Amino acid sequence: MMDHHEAHAHAAYRAQPHSTALILTVDAMGDGLSATAWVGQVGQLNRHWAQSGLAAVNTFYSRITEWLGFTALRHEGKVTGLAAYAEPPPELLEHMAERLRFVSPGFNRLSPFLVETKDSPFYRALGEFRREEVAAAAQRTLEDAVTAFVAYWVERTGVADVAVAGGAFANVKLNQRVAALPQVRSLFVTPHMGDGGLALGAALGAAGAPPEARVRLDWGPRYTKSQISRELHIARLTAVSGVDAVEHAASLLARGKTVARFAGGMEFGPRALGNRSILVRPDLPEVNDRLNGQLKRTEFMPFAPICAAENAPRLFVGLEKTPLSARHMTVCCDCTEELRRLAPGVVHVDGTARPQLVDANESPRLHRLLRRFEELTGVPALINTSFNMHEEPIVCSPFDAIRAWRAAKLDALMLDDVIVERDR
Ligand SMILES: [Fe+2]
Repeated sequence: MMDHHEAHAHAAYRAQPHSTALILTVDAMGDGLSATAWVGQVGQLNRHWAQSGLAAVNTFYSRITEWLGFTALRHEGKVTGLAAYAEPPPELLEHMAERLRFVSPGFNRLSPFLVETKDSPFYRALGEFRREEVAAAAQRTLEDAVTAFVAYWVERTGVADVAVAGGAFANVKLNQRVAALPQVRSLFVTPHMGDGGLALGAALGAAGAPPEARVRLDWGPRYTKSQISRELHIARLTAVSGVDAVEHAASLLARGKTVARFAGGMEFGPRALGNRSILVRPDLPEVNDRLNGQLKRTEFMPFAPICAAENAPRLFVGLEKTPLSARHMTVCCDCTEELRRLAPGVVHVDGTARPQLVDANESPRLHRLLRRFEELTGVPALINTSFNMHEEPIVCSPFDAIRAWRAAKLDALMLDDVIVERDR
């Protein structure tokens, strides 16, 4: 038998490289718990502490998400995006701290009998502020509570290599703050930090798999050449002949075209990491706007950059403590002046980005595409956004890919080593 948080903890411990690591989980609720602290040592996990589902951290952010008119347990990322547009007003921070704060060794508790509507005093008070301010204050409140929690557990256990799991750590800005803590030596965010990662944790835990850096996540379905040609044939599409798909895609991207990339195995987790991604040039505002329209994405949400790993030091600040998570797009960081100038489309209003770094040895074709695009344009990044239609899951099969590519009216589609163009 393995409970919910134990499965989260195994996923965190056994997908990162440190034999000794502090494992922290924070989520809504699973098997009656909201937060746990563990130490992993020579392949064993020991639970030091757990807090019940009454911990205020379990619903705080989702309630605010709902109050702002978004869907709870789904659109929390929009609150994080919106938060960058305002400074949190001090009186609002004080008000929110009544609701959520660090209380050693965990979080304050809320009564299970607390039933609230939009008219209850706590939420009525929020109405005095702009939406951006409410989002900013909620974000800061969560960050302050969780960073205090992490700092406390690092100090108490003396273990400074930290791995985290649970829905709270889907919050990439929170992860940036956690990594920046002076007490933290390294931070690993489980690539599927939410409940979709439980199966991974349960399997790795049951197998007693040793902690190991699991860099590549392309464990999902992959398709043969003949399956791909068959789908192209059924869809009456003809691949562009006599071209190298990578070379051709780089030149289309340089001309401001949108390229959907379907390659190899689908990646595990909530992020598209290049194998089921839409790639776009990041320095043309009109291209950004068109893409938002085609995909029906929320205009205040930033696009994320994908870059060759060797370019990272000149583009990003503060990724040193999160080398693995920067491969998985689970942490934010500050951007350098150079990235802001060359690729404004992937830098959020607060000067941060959520990058994915691509290593030449792990993903040679994707890496070559990035480098060829850079040679043609001087721009060291592309926009990487998940290849899916609005509110649909990320595409899996060549059939899904062709359907979504057509529906979104994207310019080109790469299917492994062939490429098709819309107007050919
Ligand atoms: Fe969970």
